[in-house]
Amino acid sequence: MSAGAGEDTAARRVRGRFITFEGGEGSGKTTQSARLVDWLSARGIAVRRTREPGGTPGAEAIRDLVVKGADGRWSALAETLLMFAARDDHLRQVIRPALEAGEWVVCDRFVDSTIAYQGYGRGLGRAAVDDIAAVVVGDTRPDLTLILDLPPSVGLARAAARRGTETRFESLDRTFHDRLRAGFLEIAAAEPDRCAVVDAGAGDTDAIFAAVSRIVAEKLFEEQSGDG
Ligand code: TMP
Repeated sequence: MSAGAGEDTAARRVRGRFITFEGGEGSGKTTQSARLVDWLSARGIAVRRTREPGGTPGAEAIRDLVVKGADGRWSALAETLLMFAARDDHLRQVIRPALEAGEWVVCDRFVDSTIAYQGYGRGLGRAAVDDIAAVVVGDTRPDLTLILDLPPSVGLARAAARRGTETRFESLDRTFHDRLRAGFLEIAAAEPDRCAVVDAGAGDTDAIFAAVSRIVAEKLFEEQSGDG
């Protein structure tokens, strides 16, 4: 049990679990991922919370380039490559070392956001994103992805209420946001073992978190005891 005990050799250490939150603007990922980290910590799990684009100094610098400024400052491909440049840094410096050390990682957005925003939203297509992900991400894939789903009109209104300087995607038209919602739902339908869709449009944050924590317990705690 105790960390640092002599028998806790690298060979015996179990890889941590990798959980991602996804969704459109104003879907409540930040609130829900913070609550999940507290909930896991209270159960004795070593867990790290992080986000994309970001999570390292270099990736946070790239974040500024993609979430701020005029819509037309990048082509769809350049924007995608910037997301993956940030992701490569984040994977190398934070995500892989944490998982290998047995920590759980809860990440606010990951590759599914690139598929939805750049692949479906910007129209780059899914195949290009998948090809780059194969190189950058390899097999560091989430064990569980919670997709917080809600109508774009509701999410955009929430996002507008707390508007800061990161408005580059928020300011795109409704059809963009409709495309990315459809993209997330297609991802979920194609990978039902990994993805769970949570209705984030109805109910308060407590009710949504009750759904989130139930899914995590069902998907990851039962699997863990099955491994043992
Ligand atoms: P956030 O507001 O959830 O922190 O995300 C920052 C913005 O970056 C959000 O508008 C979605 C966008 N984004 C992409 O377009 N592609 C990506 O791969 C990621 C990770 C985020």
